[in-house]
Amino acid sequence: MGAGAGAGAGAGGVGKCALRPSAGAGAAVRAAARAGPAGALGASRGPPGCPGTRGKVRDAYRLGGGRLALVTTDRQVRPQPPPPPSPRPPARPPIARPVRELTGPRPPPRPPPGCPQSAFDRHLALVPFKGQVLNQTSAWWMECTRDIVPNALVATPHPYVSIMEECEPLPVEVVVRGYITGTTDTSLWTQYDRGVRNYCGNPLPEGLRKNDKLERNLITPTTKAVDHDEPISPEGIIERGLVSEGHWAEVSQAALELFAFGQREAKKRGLLLVDTKYEFGLDAEGRVKLIDEVHTPDSSRYWLADSLDERRAAGLEPENIDKEFLRLWFAAHCDPYGDEVLPEAPEELVEELSRRYVALYETITGQAFAPASPDQLTEEAIEEAIAKSIVVE
Ligand SMILES: Nc1ncnc2c1ncn2[C@@H]1O[C@H](COP(=O)(O)OP(=O)(O)O)[C@@H](O)[C@H]1O
Ligand SMILES: [Mg+2]
Repeated sequence: MGAGAGAGAGAGGVGKCALRPSAGAGAAVRAAARAGPAGALGASRGPPGCPGTRGKVRDAYRLGGGRLALVTTDRQVRPQPPPPPSPRPPARPPIARPVRELTGPRPPPRPPPGCPQSAFDRHLALVPFKGQVLNQTSAWWMECTRDIVPNALVATPHPYVSIMEECEPLPVEVVVRGYITGTTDTSLWTQYDRGVRNYCGNPLPEGLRKNDKLERNLITPTTKAVDHDEPISPEGIIERGLVSEGHWAEVSQAALELFAFGQREAKKRGLLLVDTKYEFGLDAEGRVKLIDEVHTPDSSRYWLADSLDERRAAGLEPENIDKEFLRLWFAAHCDPYGDEVLPEAPEELVEELSRRYVALYETITGQAFAPASPDQLTEEAIEEAIAKSIVVE
């Protein structure tokens, strides 16, 4: 979705990030970055007999008993090709996402840095501890939002692994926005700047400026299309039979409550939760459950609250924790879509990105980051942790 595609750290380089990890975590990041691919988790292996699929970032294994093991890897992927030229092609029904079946007992070999993952996804780098940060940040939010909406998380038996109830995913991504921002084709600011005054069924007033706070939080759903996210209105979702009216009412209410909670909690920690996307699914009993990831730096945009007004007054973009600087580096050094093999990202950039992820985890959860040990970063350790969660039917 567009929400995670941040406004950017500026073309001039990495830039300083006000959030720093604790000393211990920072040292672990440095050591892991120096270790190269061995210091990060590029791919996983599931227990024998557990069918697996590979997403952009996560590997999933079916454990039986309606359970799914999700391994969040350290893969940093540029998910989408540049948007198609306007005007948009006519709406078409959603197609299943491109997941690669992991055949045989062994998964395909770990992709070397720079190796394309599929026609659409470009693997940019392995970022140490990114998977752990995403996995544990999401688990933290899932634990503290269970009273808002039930979720599919069952356990986290390993820093990179979540065991989830396997749900039937609803074919829409529920994007919620508190600010008008972004640079991609589906970003609210891009659309508004082109003159759009009604986006996904939300009327927009005249006179908004980039990065303004919206009068109220808006839901701008997208369908889960293969090559790009396609914006859709709630009416469209129901008319096309993607989600029933009753389920949409439940899901949209839950999304707004989750987002308002996320904004309040982020604010207490000096962060602004700018936008995010949620995924929901139906469990075995047909009940709506929150699935996937919640308020992670991959699914959400966070800004630093303190500097926002000053920076905006000076005509600067808000300070954020995103990965735009890595994308900019690739854009400056190769053609990220045209070139068959991408260059390897510089170690300092990868290390900086890792530091930002870890610092965000510590800021949000208020807990010191406990980096996975090299022993835990092996395929064997992950397989073992998953195997212990298998439900014997
Ligand atoms: N509890 C769950 N039940 C079923 N599917 C899930 C659940 N949680 C997450 N998923 C799916 O698992 C996949 C996670 O892998 P990810 O790398 O994020 O994939 P993607 O490339 O589709 O974004 C997503 O397709 C998501 O919809
Ligand atoms: Mg995903």
